[in-house]
Amino acid sequence: MAQTWNPSSWRQKPIQQVPEYPDLAALAATEAQLATYPPLVFAGEARRLKSSLANVAEGRGFLLQGGDCAESFAEHGADTIRDFFRAFLQMAVVLTFGAQQPVVKVGRIAGQFAKPRSSNIEKQGDVELPSYRGDIINGIEFNEAARIPSPERQLDAYRQSAATLNLLRAFAMGGYANLDNVHQWMLGFVKDSPQAERYRKLADRISETMDFMKAIGITPESNPNLRETDFFTSHEALLLGYEQALTRVDSTSGDWYATSGHMIWIGDRTRQPDHAHIEYCRGIKNPLGLKCGPSLSADGLIELIDLLNPNNEAGRLTLICRFGHDKVAEHLPRLIRAVEREGRKVVWSCDPMHGNTITLNNYKTRPFERILSEVESFFQIHRAEGTHPGGIHIEMTGKDVTECTGGARALSGADLADRYHTHCDPRLNADQALELAFLLAERMKGGRDEKRMVVNG
Ligand code: PEP
Ligand code: CO
Repeated sequence: MAQTWNPSSWRQKPIQQVPEYPDLAALAATEAQLATYPPLVFAGEARRLKSSLANVAEGRGFLLQGGDCAESFAEHGADTIRDFFRAFLQMAVVLTFGAQQPVVKVGRIAGQFAKPRSSNIEKQGDVELPSYRGDIINGIEFNEAARIPSPERQLDAYRQSAATLNLLRAFAMGGYANLDNVHQWMLGFVKDSPQAERYRKLADRISETMDFMKAIGITPESNPNLRETDFFTSHEALLLGYEQALTRVDSTSGDWYATSGHMIWIGDRTRQPDHAHIEYCRGIKNPLGLKCGPSLSADGLIELIDLLNPNNEAGRLTLICRFGHDKVAEHLPRLIRAVEREGRKVVWSCDPMHGNTITLNNYKTRPFERILSEVESFFQIHRAEGTHPGGIHIEMTGKDVTECTGGARALSGADLADRYHTHCDPRLNADQALELAFLLAERMKGGRDEKRMVVNG
Protein backbone atom coordinates (compact mmCIF):
# COMPACT_ATOMS: atom_id res chain seq x y z
CA MET A 1 0.00 0.00 0.00
CA ALA A 2 1.47 3.35 -1.04
CA GLN A 3 2.11 5.37 2.09
CA THR A 4 1.34 8.71 0.53
CA TRP A 5 -2.21 9.23 -0.43
CA ASN A 6 -3.58 11.91 -2.69
CA PRO A 7 -6.89 12.19 -4.54
CA SER A 8 -5.32 10.63 -7.65
CA SER A 9 -3.13 7.95 -6.01
CA TRP A 10 -5.77 5.35 -6.91
CA ARG A 11 -4.68 5.74 -10.53
CA GLN A 12 -1.48 3.79 -9.78
CA LYS A 13 -3.47 0.75 -8.65
CA PRO A 14 -5.21 -2.09 -10.46
CA ILE A 15 -8.90 -1.37 -10.85
CA GLN A 16 -12.12 -3.31 -11.53
CA GLN A 17 -15.32 -2.20 -13.22
CA VAL A 18 -13.90 0.67 -15.29
CA PRO A 19 -15.81 1.83 -18.35
CA GLU A 20 -13.93 1.97 -21.65
CA TYR A 21 -14.24 5.59 -22.69
CA PRO A 22 -13.35 5.87 -26.38
CA ASP A 23 -12.10 9.46 -26.04
CA LEU A 24 -9.73 9.83 -23.10
CA ALA A 25 -8.98 13.48 -23.85
CA ALA A 26 -12.69 14.31 -23.62
CA LEU A 27 -12.88 12.37 -20.34
CA ALA A 28 -9.95 14.32 -18.88
CA ALA A 29 -11.52 17.63 -20.00
CA THR A 30 -14.82 16.73 -18.31
CA GLU A 31 -13.07 15.75 -15.09
CA ALA A 32 -11.13 19.02 -15.15
CA GLN A 33 -14.37 20.92 -15.58
CA LEU A 34 -16.06 19.05 -12.73
CA ALA A 35 -13.11 19.90 -10.51
CA THR A 36 -14.04 23.58 -10.86
CA TYR A 37 -17.70 23.00 -9.82
CA PRO A 38 -18.94 23.71 -6.29
CA PRO A 39 -19.03 20.84 -3.80
CA LEU A 40 -22.40 19.12 -3.44
CA VAL A 41 -22.05 18.56 0.30
CA PHE A 42 -19.88 20.07 3.01
CA ALA A 43 -17.27 18.49 5.23
CA GLY A 44 -19.09 19.67 8.36
CA GLU A 45 -22.19 17.74 7.31
CA ALA A 46 -20.15 14.59 6.71
CA ARG A 47 -18.64 15.00 10.18
CA ARG A 48 -22.11 15.36 11.69
CA LEU A 49 -23.19 12.13 9.99
CA LYS A 50 -20.05 10.44 11.26
CA SER A 51 -20.83 11.43 14.83
CA SER A 52 -24.42 10.14 14.48
CA LEU A 53 -23.02 6.88 13.13
CA ALA A 54 -20.56 6.78 16.03
CA ASN A 55 -23.59 6.61 18.33
CA VAL A 56 -24.97 3.74 16.26
CA ALA A 57 -21.63 1.93 16.50
CA GLU A 58 -21.84 2.31 20.29
CA GLY A 59 -25.33 0.79 20.30
CA ARG A 60 -27.30 4.01 20.57
CA GLY A 61 -29.13 4.42 17.28
CA PHE A 62 -30.21 2.74 14.08
CA LEU A 63 -29.15 3.47 10.52
CA LEU A 64 -31.79 3.52 7.79
CA GLN A 65 -30.13 3.70 4.39
CA GLY A 66 -32.13 3.29 1.21
CA GLY A 67 -33.12 4.42 -2.23
CA ASP A 68 -32.82 3.42 -5.86
CA CYS A 69 -30.41 0.76 -7.00
CA ALA A 70 -29.57 3.22 -9.77
CA GLU A 71 -30.94 6.72 -10.13
CA SER A 72 -31.98 7.51 -13.67
CA PHE A 73 -31.97 10.68 -15.75
CA ALA A 74 -35.38 9.79 -17.20
CA GLU A 75 -37.10 9.53 -13.82
CA HIS A 76 -35.61 12.71 -12.40
CA GLY A 77 -38.45 14.89 -11.16
CA ALA A 78 -39.96 16.50 -8.09
CA ASP A 79 -42.66 13.84 -7.68
CA THR A 80 -40.20 10.96 -7.66
CA ILE A 81 -38.04 12.67 -5.05
CA ARG A 82 -41.02 13.67 -2.91
CA ASP A 83 -42.58 10.20 -3.01
CA PHE A 84 -39.28 8.59 -2.06
CA PHE A 85 -38.72 11.01 0.79
CA ARG A 86 -42.24 10.49 2.09
CA ALA A 87 -41.95 6.70 2.12
CA PHE A 88 -38.51 6.92 3.67
CA LEU A 89 -39.63 9.23 6.50
CA GLN A 90 -42.55 6.98 7.31
CA MET A 91 -40.20 4.04 7.60
CA ALA A 92 -37.96 6.13 9.84
CA VAL A 93 -40.81 7.02 12.21
CA VAL A 94 -41.92 3.42 12.52
CA LEU A 95 -38.35 2.23 13.09
CA THR A 96 -37.67 4.99 15.63
CA PHE A 97 -40.64 3.76 17.58
CA GLY A 98 -39.61 0.13 17.21
CA ALA A 99 -36.00 0.70 18.20
CA GLN A 100 -36.76 3.45 20.75
CA GLN A 101 -33.56 5.00 19.44
CA PRO A 102 -32.71 7.78 17.01
CA VAL A 103 -32.78 6.68 13.38
CA VAL A 104 -29.96 8.06 11.24
CA LYS A 105 -31.42 8.75 7.80
CA VAL A 106 -29.22 8.23 4.76
CA GLY A 107 -30.63 8.11 1.22
CA ARG A 108 -29.12 6.20 -1.69
CA ILE A 109 -29.80 9.33 -3.66
CA ALA A 110 -28.33 12.48 -5.23
CA GLY A 111 -25.35 10.62 -6.68
CA GLN A 112 -26.23 6.91 -6.91
CA PHE A 113 -25.63 6.55 -10.64
CA ALA A 114 -22.69 4.22 -11.38
CA LYS A 115 -23.25 0.45 -11.37
CA PRO A 116 -20.83 -2.46 -11.12
CA ARG A 117 -21.85 -5.29 -13.44
CA SER A 118 -21.24 -9.02 -13.25
CA SER A 119 -20.64 -9.16 -17.01
CA ASN A 120 -19.05 -6.66 -19.41
CA ILE A 121 -21.52 -7.62 -22.11
CA GLU A 122 -25.26 -7.99 -22.35
CA LYS A 123 -26.75 -10.40 -24.84
CA GLN A 124 -30.25 -10.11 -26.27
CA GLY A 125 -31.03 -12.75 -28.89
CA ASP A 126 -27.97 -12.83 -31.12
CA VAL A 127 -26.88 -9.30 -30.35
CA GLU A 128 -24.10 -8.57 -27.88
CA LEU A 129 -23.46 -5.06 -26.56
CA PRO A 130 -21.44 -3.57 -23.72
CA SER A 131 -23.39 -3.71 -20.45
CA TYR A 132 -25.27 -0.72 -19.12
CA ARG A 133 -23.21 0.79 -16.26
CA GLY A 134 -25.52 3.47 -14.95
CA ASP A 135 -26.69 6.79 -16.41
CA ILE A 136 -23.50 8.55 -15.32
CA ILE A 137 -21.60 6.29 -17.78
CA ASN A 138 -23.80 5.08 -20.67
CA GLY A 139 -27.42 4.68 -21.76
CA ILE A 140 -29.76 1.82 -20.84
CA GLU A 141 -31.27 1.54 -24.35
CA PHE A 142 -30.14 -1.62 -26.07
CA ASN A 143 -28.32 -0.13 -29.04
CA GLU A 144 -24.70 0.39 -29.85
CA ALA A 145 -24.67 4.19 -29.64
CA ALA A 146 -26.33 4.30 -26.21
CA ARG A 147 -23.87 1.85 -24.72
CA ILE A 148 -20.77 3.89 -25.58
CA PRO A 149 -19.51 5.56 -22.36
CA SER A 150 -19.86 9.34 -22.62
CA PRO A 151 -18.05 11.75 -20.25
CA GLU A 152 -20.78 14.39 -20.74
CA ARG A 153 -23.04 12.20 -18.62
CA GLN A 154 -20.92 13.00 -15.56
CA LEU A 155 -21.93 16.65 -15.85
CA ASP A 156 -25.60 15.67 -16.13
CA ALA A 157 -25.26 13.43 -13.07
CA TYR A 158 -23.64 16.26 -11.13
CA ARG A 159 -26.46 18.66 -12.06
CA GLN A 160 -29.16 16.13 -11.24
CA SER A 161 -27.50 15.44 -7.89
CA ALA A 162 -27.39 19.18 -7.13
CA ALA A 163 -31.07 19.64 -7.99
CA THR A 164 -32.10 16.56 -6.02
CA LEU A 165 -30.13 17.68 -2.98
CA ASN A 166 -31.64 21.13 -3.19
CA LEU A 167 -35.15 19.73 -3.01
CA LEU A 168 -34.27 17.25 -0.27
CA ARG A 169 -32.77 20.01 1.84
CA ALA A 170 -35.94 22.06 1.38
CA PHE A 171 -38.13 19.08 2.31
CA ALA A 172 -36.00 18.22 5.34
CA MET A 173 -35.80 21.73 6.74
CA GLY A 174 -38.85 23.54 5.32
CA GLY A 175 -41.69 21.89 7.22
CA TYR A 176 -42.54 19.00 4.89
CA ALA A 177 -40.84 16.51 7.20
CA ASN A 178 -42.91 17.71 10.17
CA LEU A 179 -43.65 14.71 12.39
CA ASP A 180 -47.40 15.41 12.31
CA ASN A 181 -47.36 15.06 8.52
CA VAL A 182 -45.36 11.86 8.61
CA HIS A 183 -47.68 10.43 11.22
CA GLN A 184 -50.75 11.24 9.13
CA TRP A 185 -49.24 9.63 6.01
CA MET A 186 -48.37 6.58 8.04
CA LEU A 187 -51.96 6.27 9.31
CA GLY A 188 -53.16 6.54 5.70
CA PHE A 189 -50.89 3.66 4.74
CA VAL A 190 -52.15 1.50 7.62
CA LYS A 191 -55.81 2.19 6.81
CA ASP A 192 -55.37 1.09 3.18
CA SER A 193 -53.16 -1.91 3.84
CA PRO A 194 -54.56 -5.44 3.54
CA GLN A 195 -52.61 -6.00 6.79
CA ALA A 196 -54.31 -3.03 8.51
CA GLU A 197 -55.28 -5.07 11.57
CA ARG A 198 -51.74 -6.23 12.11
CA TYR A 199 -50.15 -2.78 11.80
CA ARG A 200 -52.83 -0.89 13.70
CA LYS A 201 -51.55 -1.87 17.14
CA LEU A 202 -48.18 -0.28 16.59
CA ALA A 203 -49.69 2.69 14.75
CA ASP A 204 -52.08 3.31 17.66
CA ARG A 205 -49.19 3.34 20.10
CA ILE A 206 -47.36 5.89 17.97
CA SER A 207 -50.54 8.02 17.87
CA GLU A 208 -50.88 7.81 21.65
CA THR A 209 -47.28 8.90 22.07
CA MET A 210 -47.87 11.85 19.75
CA ASP A 211 -51.01 12.82 21.69
CA PHE A 212 -49.12 12.61 24.97
CA MET A 213 -46.30 14.79 23.65
CA LYS A 214 -48.84 17.35 22.43
CA ALA A 215 -50.58 17.34 25.80
CA ILE A 216 -47.38 18.33 27.55
CA GLY A 217 -46.60 21.01 24.98
CA ILE A 218 -44.07 19.23 22.75
CA THR A 219 -45.33 20.17 19.30
CA PRO A 220 -43.70 20.82 15.92
CA GLU A 221 -44.42 24.52 16.46
CA SER A 222 -42.54 24.58 19.74
CA ASN A 223 -39.81 22.11 18.89
CA PRO A 224 -37.61 22.27 15.77
CA ASN A 225 -36.69 18.58 16.17
CA LEU A 226 -40.26 17.71 15.27
CA ARG A 227 -40.47 19.86 12.16
CA GLU A 228 -36.98 19.40 10.74
CA THR A 229 -34.91 16.33 10.17
CA ASP A 230 -31.33 15.45 9.39
CA PHE A 231 -31.17 13.71 6.07
CA PHE A 232 -27.92 12.61 4.43
CA THR A 233 -26.97 11.31 1.00
CA SER A 234 -24.86 8.36 -0.07
CA HIS A 235 -23.80 6.38 -3.11
CA GLU A 236 -21.32 3.76 -4.24
CA ALA A 237 -18.01 5.46 -5.02
CA LEU A 238 -17.47 3.43 -8.18
CA LEU A 239 -16.56 5.99 -10.83
CA LEU A 240 -13.34 7.24 -9.31
CA GLY A 241 -12.55 9.94 -11.89
CA TYR A 242 -15.82 11.65 -10.94
CA GLU A 243 -15.12 11.18 -7.23
CA GLN A 244 -11.60 12.55 -7.57
CA ALA A 245 -12.90 15.69 -9.33
CA LEU A 246 -15.20 16.34 -6.37
CA THR A 247 -12.60 15.57 -3.69
CA ARG A 248 -11.74 18.77 -1.89
CA VAL A 249 -9.73 19.97 1.09
CA ASP A 250 -11.87 21.12 3.98
CA SER A 251 -10.61 24.53 5.01
CA THR A 252 -11.54 23.97 8.67
CA SER A 253 -9.63 20.74 9.25
CA GLY A 254 -7.26 20.62 6.27
CA ASP A 255 -8.57 17.10 5.56
CA TRP A 256 -9.72 15.68 2.23
CA TYR A 257 -13.42 14.98 1.78
CA ALA A 258 -15.49 13.47 -1.00
CA THR A 259 -18.02 16.23 -1.65
CA SER A 260 -20.17 14.12 -4.01
CA GLY A 261 -22.25 12.84 -1.06
CA HIS A 262 -22.09 12.59 2.71
CA MET A 263 -21.33 8.89 2.89
CA ILE A 264 -19.86 6.72 0.17
CA TRP A 265 -19.49 2.99 0.05
CA ILE A 266 -17.29 0.39 -1.60
CA GLY A 267 -19.10 -2.33 -3.54
CA ASP A 268 -18.71 -6.05 -3.02
CA ARG A 269 -16.94 -6.36 -6.39
CA THR A 270 -14.37 -3.61 -5.86
CA ARG A 271 -13.07 -4.18 -2.33
CA GLN A 272 -9.69 -5.80 -3.19
CA PRO A 273 -7.31 -4.37 -0.55
CA ASP A 274 -4.53 -3.47 -3.00
CA HIS A 275 -6.83 -2.01 -5.65
CA ALA A 276 -7.98 1.46 -6.63
CA HIS A 277 -11.31 1.76 -4.80
CA ILE A 278 -9.85 0.98 -1.39
CA GLU A 279 -6.94 3.31 -2.12
CA TYR A 280 -9.25 6.22 -2.94
CA CYS A 281 -11.57 5.66 0.02
CA ARG A 282 -8.87 5.25 2.65
CA GLY A 283 -7.73 8.85 2.13
CA ILE A 284 -10.99 10.73 2.47
CA LYS A 285 -12.56 11.51 5.83
CA ASN A 286 -16.24 10.85 5.06
CA PRO A 287 -18.07 8.02 6.76
CA LEU A 288 -17.55 4.90 4.62
CA GLY A 289 -19.62 1.84 3.87
CA LEU A 290 -18.10 -1.49 2.93
CA LYS A 291 -20.24 -4.16 1.30
CA CYS A 292 -19.54 -7.56 2.81
CA GLY A 293 -20.61 -10.57 0.74
CA PRO A 294 -20.07 -14.33 1.15
CA SER A 295 -16.57 -14.25 -0.37
CA LEU A 296 -15.17 -11.98 2.37
CA SER A 297 -13.05 -13.89 4.88
CA ALA A 298 -12.66 -12.81 8.50
CA ASP A 299 -8.96 -12.04 7.94
CA GLY A 300 -9.82 -10.19 4.74
CA LEU A 301 -12.29 -8.06 6.64
CA ILE A 302 -9.77 -7.16 9.35
CA GLU A 303 -7.22 -6.27 6.66
CA LEU A 304 -9.77 -3.93 5.07
CA ILE A 305 -10.67 -2.39 8.42
CA ASP A 306 -6.96 -1.74 9.04
CA LEU A 307 -6.80 0.14 5.75
CA LEU A 308 -10.07 2.04 6.01
CA ASN A 309 -10.21 2.78 9.71
CA PRO A 310 -6.66 2.53 11.08
CA ASN A 311 -7.47 4.73 14.09
CA ASN A 312 -10.55 2.68 15.01
CA GLU A 313 -12.86 5.69 15.01
CA ALA A 314 -16.50 4.90 15.73
CA GLY A 315 -18.76 6.11 12.89
CA ARG A 316 -16.07 5.93 10.24
CA LEU A 317 -16.98 2.48 8.94
CA THR A 318 -20.30 0.76 8.33
CA LEU A 319 -20.20 -2.89 7.33
CA ILE A 320 -23.09 -3.49 4.97
CA CYS A 321 -23.67 -7.25 5.04
CA ARG A 322 -25.34 -8.80 1.99
CA PHE A 323 -25.19 -12.56 2.16
CA GLY A 324 -28.63 -13.84 1.21
CA HIS A 325 -31.36 -15.22 3.47
CA ASP A 326 -29.90 -18.73 3.25
CA LYS A 327 -26.25 -17.72 3.76
CA VAL A 328 -26.38 -15.10 6.50
CA ALA A 329 -26.21 -17.67 9.31
CA GLU A 330 -23.11 -19.21 7.73
CA HIS A 331 -21.17 -15.98 7.20
CA LEU A 332 -22.23 -13.26 9.61
CA PRO A 333 -21.18 -14.87 12.93
CA ARG A 334 -17.56 -15.42 11.81
CA LEU A 335 -17.25 -11.76 10.76
CA ILE A 336 -18.83 -10.50 13.98
CA ARG A 337 -16.50 -12.66 16.05
CA ALA A 338 -13.40 -11.42 14.22
CA VAL A 339 -14.43 -7.78 14.66
CA GLU A 340 -15.20 -8.33 18.35
CA ARG A 341 -11.97 -10.22 18.94
CA GLU A 342 -10.00 -7.36 17.40
CA GLY A 343 -12.02 -4.72 19.24
CA ARG A 344 -12.98 -2.83 16.09
CA LYS A 345 -15.69 -0.19 16.21
CA VAL A 346 -18.11 -0.59 13.33
CA VAL A 347 -21.74 -0.13 12.48
CA TRP A 348 -23.32 -3.43 11.44
CA SER A 349 -25.91 -2.92 8.76
CA CYS A 350 -27.95 -5.48 6.81
CA ASP A 351 -28.49 -5.22 3.05
CA PRO A 352 -31.15 -7.90 2.53
CA MET A 353 -31.47 -7.11 -1.18
CA HIS A 354 -28.30 -8.09 -3.03
CA GLY A 355 -28.02 -11.69 -1.81
CA ASN A 356 -31.66 -12.43 -2.59
CA THR A 357 -32.02 -11.71 -6.29
CA ILE A 358 -33.64 -14.40 -8.45
CA THR A 359 -35.00 -14.51 -12.00
CA LEU A 360 -38.72 -15.09 -12.48
CA ASN A 361 -40.53 -14.83 -15.84
CA ASN A 362 -37.37 -13.23 -17.23
CA TYR A 363 -37.41 -10.48 -14.59
CA LYS A 364 -34.82 -10.02 -11.91
CA THR A 365 -36.82 -9.98 -8.69
CA ARG A 366 -36.54 -10.44 -4.94
CA PRO A 367 -39.14 -12.22 -2.83
CA PHE A 368 -40.28 -10.06 0.08
CA GLU A 369 -40.22 -13.07 2.45
CA ARG A 370 -36.53 -13.65 1.75
CA ILE A 371 -35.71 -9.98 2.33
CA LEU A 372 -37.56 -10.04 5.64
CA SER A 373 -35.98 -13.37 6.55
CA GLU A 374 -32.43 -12.08 6.01
CA VAL A 375 -33.05 -9.06 8.24
CA GLU A 376 -34.65 -11.24 10.91
CA SER A 377 -31.66 -13.59 10.90
CA PHE A 378 -29.36 -10.57 11.08
CA PHE A 379 -31.16 -9.40 14.23
CA GLN A 380 -31.18 -12.85 15.80
CA ILE A 381 -27.49 -13.42 15.14
CA HIS A 382 -26.54 -10.08 16.67
CA ARG A 383 -28.70 -10.81 19.67
CA ALA A 384 -26.95 -14.16 20.10
CA GLU A 385 -23.48 -12.62 19.71
CA GLY A 386 -24.29 -9.72 22.04
CA THR A 387 -23.63 -7.11 19.34
CA HIS A 388 -25.78 -4.27 18.03
CA PRO A 389 -27.77 -4.79 14.81
CA GLY A 390 -27.16 -1.23 13.73
CA GLY A 391 -29.11 -0.71 10.55
CA ILE A 392 -30.61 -1.76 7.26
CA HIS A 393 -29.66 -0.87 3.71
CA ILE A 394 -32.42 -1.33 1.16
CA GLU A 395 -33.32 -0.64 -2.45
CA MET A 396 -36.68 1.08 -2.50
CA THR A 397 -38.74 3.70 -4.26
CA GLY A 398 -41.72 5.83 -3.25
CA LYS A 399 -43.58 4.69 -6.37
CA ASP A 400 -46.03 1.83 -6.74
CA VAL A 401 -43.76 -0.35 -8.86
CA THR A 402 -43.95 -4.13 -9.26
CA GLU A 403 -40.36 -5.29 -8.98
CA CYS A 404 -40.17 -7.41 -5.81
CA THR A 405 -42.69 -10.21 -5.28
CA GLY A 406 -44.72 -10.76 -2.11
CA GLY A 407 -45.69 -8.32 0.59
CA ALA A 408 -49.17 -7.62 1.92
CA ARG A 409 -50.53 -7.27 -1.60
CA ALA A 410 -48.93 -10.58 -2.54
CA LEU A 411 -47.38 -9.47 -5.82
CA SER A 412 -46.80 -12.53 -7.97
CA GLY A 413 -44.38 -13.35 -10.76
CA ALA A 414 -47.18 -12.54 -13.21
CA ASP A 415 -47.54 -9.02 -11.77
CA LEU A 416 -43.90 -8.10 -12.41
CA ALA A 417 -44.58 -7.00 -15.98
CA ASP A 418 -47.11 -4.34 -14.86
CA ARG A 419 -44.82 -1.61 -13.55
CA TYR A 420 -41.26 -2.86 -13.68
CA HIS A 421 -39.31 0.39 -13.99
CA THR A 422 -35.96 -0.08 -12.30
CA HIS A 423 -32.78 0.77 -14.17
CA CYS A 424 -30.92 -1.96 -12.40
CA ASP A 425 -32.00 -4.11 -9.44
CA PRO A 426 -35.60 -4.66 -8.23
CA ARG A 427 -36.71 -2.26 -5.49
CA LEU A 428 -39.28 -2.50 -2.74
CA ASN A 429 -42.24 -0.29 -3.62
CA ALA A 430 -43.54 2.25 -1.09
CA ASP A 431 -45.98 -0.20 0.55
CA GLN A 432 -43.47 -3.02 0.75
CA ALA A 433 -40.84 -0.71 2.23
CA LEU A 434 -43.21 0.47 4.92
CA GLU A 435 -44.39 -3.06 5.63
CA LEU A 436 -40.80 -4.08 6.17
CA ALA A 437 -40.44 -1.23 8.68
CA PHE A 438 -43.58 -2.32 10.56
CA LEU A 439 -42.54 -5.96 10.69
CA LEU A 440 -39.06 -5.03 11.92
CA ALA A 441 -40.42 -2.58 14.49
CA GLU A 442 -42.68 -5.32 15.86
CA ARG A 443 -39.69 -7.59 16.29
CA MET A 444 -37.44 -4.89 17.77
CA LYS A 445 -40.12 -4.21 20.31
CA GLY A 446 -40.51 -7.93 20.96
CA GLY A 447 -36.76 -8.24 21.49
CA ARG A 448 -36.80 -5.45 24.06
CA ASP A 449 -39.74 -6.95 25.94
CA GLU A 450 -37.88 -10.26 26.05
CA LYS A 451 -34.76 -8.57 27.42
CA ARG A 452 -36.81 -6.81 30.07
CA MET A 453 -38.36 -10.12 31.13
CA VAL A 454 -34.91 -11.65 31.48
CA VAL A 455 -33.63 -8.65 33.45
CA ASN A 456 -36.67 -8.62 35.74
CA GLY A 457 -36.31 -12.36 36.02
C1 PEP B 1 -25.67 -2.09 -4.93
O1 PEP B 1 -25.72 -1.70 -3.75
O2 PEP B 1 -26.45 -1.70 -5.82
C2 PEP B 1 -24.66 -3.12 -5.30
C3 PEP B 1 -24.22 -3.28 -6.53
O3 PEP B 1 -24.32 -3.86 -4.23
P1 PEP B 1 -23.15 -4.93 -4.01
O4 PEP B 1 -21.86 -4.21 -4.25
O5 PEP B 1 -23.35 -5.33 -2.59
O6 PEP B 1 -23.38 -6.06 -4.99
CO1 CO C 1 -28.44 -2.83 -6.48
